[in-house]
Amino acid sequence: MDRLKKALVYDRASHPERTNATPERIFEVLTNVLAGKADQHIKELKTFLPSLRAPVTAEQADRVIAYLDDARLSKEALNRITEQLELSEIATAEAIELHHQFKIPVSHPEEDIIPVKGDGCWIMDTKGKWYLDTDSNYSATNLGMANEEIAKGLYNQASTLISMKEDRIQIARSRFLKEIHTMMPEGLTQFYWQNSGGEAVDKALKIAKAYTGTTKVIAFKNGFHGRTHGAVAVTWNEKYRKPFGLHNLDWVHFAEFNNIESVKQLVNETGAKIIILEMVQGEEAGNRPATQEFVDALWALAKEKGLVIIDDEVQAGFGRTAVKEGDWFACMSYNVVPDIMVIGKSFGGGYPVTAVVTKKEISQAMKYGYDGSTFGGNPMAMTAALIATRQMRELNITGNVVKRSKQLMAGLKAIEQKYPMVSDAHGRGLMVALSLGSAENVAKVQKRLAELGVKASLSTGPYLRFLPPTIISKGEVNFLLENLLQAIDELD
Ligand SMILES: Cc1ncc(COP(=O)(O)O)c(C=O)c1O
Repeated sequence: MDRLKKALVYDRASHPERTNATPERIFEVLTNVLAGKADQHIKELKTFLPSLRAPVTAEQADRVIAYLDDARLSKEALNRITEQLELSEIATAEAIELHHQFKIPVSHPEEDIIPVKGDGCWIMDTKGKWYLDTDSNYSATNLGMANEEIAKGLYNQASTLISMKEDRIQIARSRFLKEIHTMMPEGLTQFYWQNSGGEAVDKALKIAKAYTGTTKVIAFKNGFHGRTHGAVAVTWNEKYRKPFGLHNLDWVHFAEFNNIESVKQLVNETGAKIIILEMVQGEEAGNRPATQEFVDALWALAKEKGLVIIDDEVQAGFGRTAVKEGDWFACMSYNVVPDIMVIGKSFGGGYPVTAVVTKKEISQAMKYGYDGSTFGGNPMAMTAALIATRQMRELNITGNVVKRSKQLMAGLKAIEQKYPMVSDAHGRGLMVALSLGSAENVAKVQKRLAELGVKASLSTGPYLRFLPPTIISKGEVNFLLENLLQAIDELD
């Protein structure tokens, strides 16, 4: 009951991040755990908890505890009630209302699952239901939805030195620098840290412009690079660019992906020296890998014409697209080294940290004062990155991706064979997709999957995309495939 008390009235010494529980949440949790049997209890509790959203007082909490003590609930039920209150003291309905009331509506809110806890590839929502995660927060939580080692490291770092501006040398970064180079493509030794992928893409463009002394950039149709001004400018979908006047820029030109003639033509027409691409096009193309022929031809063209290639591996990096063990980045799986690489997402195991990485010669084009960042590469970010990348190596993530990718692709191909509605199962590593014929079918299958315990919220038109955590196990891939089969079967 002491634990329940702390879940109702927050204990500042152990959980300064919390507030007191609301009656609305207490009633929700009772319903989650006791289903129909909760109604009578809620009726009784309402006699002394009249206001749904006012956090309970210590005295009200004592009365709730006394009531539940008398109610002869099983130990198991009480434990579940306590755990769910610990995870959220705010009810689902209030969380959704707060979001709509106070958030600038830049993106479509996902209201079906309000996550409160992760365990490996699994995620639990405010209703106490567990789901297999198949999108890893757009590939940011590749090591799972919670991480004790990172938590400990961040706690230690925050208790000693929580932040330090980018230009000051600091030890957390030194520790990281001593280890990270083992994962990098040959020759990419110079780092510049940022806080988001878009920001790092922006800085990569600045570095390429400084190095080449030119401004024209060739990007690709169906490419996606983020939402900052520079990143949007080189992102294909006009709906992301037009509202901000970034659709008719004289310095950005879009070539056909996997079509070297289109690149050659644009290089000749524009004289551009900078190329930016995703080696596996994600968001906008539905996880479409470059062909080896295209990559080889692009690198040959770059050599011939002195072009600088920026490889955006924000999503594809850190083993996500591995084809063989040791392919930490997509470029390694294609046996090429870009001039500049952008990395992010799972870099910090879920903690925000990104970077531009380049060759020494290119890095020297940036002079003191050309750029700066208050938070870039701060001690918390470097600590998370050190621990996350160490774990990736210890867990042999690339080895796991190779095995699980084969298993997943074989399963998707089998589904494709069975149902005429399904086609074009494709991907690289654990960045995969299949077409269900229409966006409506995708929405229906996603909804059914959620009921079956699979969180699968990624899509591109008729494509259902999957980016499961790179730690996913054989059993979990089977769970995904079995439920996908059922959801599609019911739709067929
Ligand atoms: C390839 C690629 N580049 C850049 C970004 C932008 O990253 P962020 O959302 O961290 O700004 C994304 C995000 O999805 C991405 O997929």
